[in-house]
Amino acid sequence: MSLFEALTEKAKSMPQRIVLPEGTEPRTLTAADRIIAENIAEVILFGDLNDIKSMAKELNLTHIDRATIVNPSDEKVIDHYAPLFYQLRKSKGITMEQARLTTANPLYLGCLMVKAGDADGQVAGALNTTGNVLRAAFQVIKTQPGINVVSGAFIMLLPEGSSFGSKDLLVFADCAVVPDPSAEELAQIAISSAQTARDIAGIKPRVAMLSFSTKGSAKHERVNKVIAATRIAQEMCPELIIDGELQADAAIVPSVAQTKSPNSSLSGRANVLIFPSLEVGNIAYKLVQRLGGVQAVGPVLQGLAAPVNDLSRGCFPEDIYKTIIMTCIQAIGLKEHK
Ligand code: ACO
Repeated sequence: MSLFEALTEKAKSMPQRIVLPEGTEPRTLTAADRIIAENIAEVILFGDLNDIKSMAKELNLTHIDRATIVNPSDEKVIDHYAPLFYQLRKSKGITMEQARLTTANPLYLGCLMVKAGDADGQVAGALNTTGNVLRAAFQVIKTQPGINVVSGAFIMLLPEGSSFGSKDLLVFADCAVVPDPSAEELAQIAISSAQTARDIAGIKPRVAMLSFSTKGSAKHERVNKVIAATRIAQEMCPELIIDGELQADAAIVPSVAQTKSPNSSLSGRANVLIFPSLEVGNIAYKLVQRLGGVQAVGPVLQGLAAPVNDLSRGCFPEDIYKTIIMTCIQAIGLKEHK
């Protein structure tokens, strides 16, 4: 069974309620129709009922009538959720009027429904920028206990029979959110990525904190940051298999590990790679994807108290479909580990 077949089966076993704020967007509607048809999740679409109905008709979609439709301009909906936004942000000096205006923004309304327990996760970004999708989640849903930084991981699906990673995959992070993490933030990214590896990729995480140095081979403040991050992550999560600072080859090639880091708990068999900055993580995943012919699944946003995932504006219905499934799996994982 492929990773996605397994995830789909798990999602079906405990259907989650997923908000799609871009409810009249054709690719989103097409993905929603398939999710509903396959009984994977309960879909909440935002938009005007008639607009959604006519778009569904135009696209020949036959299952959209089973979605819950919420109109973000409906005064009753705003009356219901604006007080929650006001409570969450009043310390920032907002007025109730500003809270009402923000609540009418579908990205915020979706997060408010999740925060209120009326939905389990949100998927957006076919129309909106990454920054806007993330900011709503940061402000409303916030982070999990013990974590104060949200980051983005990719699950890199390697060719079958690969000698790297576990189950023909590796998890890369942060590739999407935090431009220049501190040592504490890097440690949290490592712990969140281990959770993603366990909950979504279904592997036992073995985390490598990557650098251009292996165990003191180079001296630099950037190396020191990775050393400190490794120590902090070990203290935060003593049961986690994690080591650093390691160069990428010492992390994933056992014969190189034997020479460069013979005492490493990873023995060159890391399956979660943590990059020291967003520049490295974002460039690395794109190069591996393009040069290595590797499928990159994500970004999976990790560290939030409830799942919100961002789409590329160039995405296809298939990408949205898969992102909804991953969001369901994250929601199930958070409930299972509560
Ligand atoms: N985790 C948790 N909370 C955060 C994070 C984070 N990583 N970053 C910011 N916040 C919070 C702040 O604490 C703040 O909270 P508050 O309002 O309650 O005080 C709020 O979010 C807004 O913070 P700002 O500093 O104003 O954040 P800003 O909006 O400037 O930036 C953003 C956040 C948009 C995510 C920024 O970090 C960013 O642009 N990152 C890069 C995203 C990107 O372009 N990635 C590459 C493309 S994706 C891809 O290729 C796969």
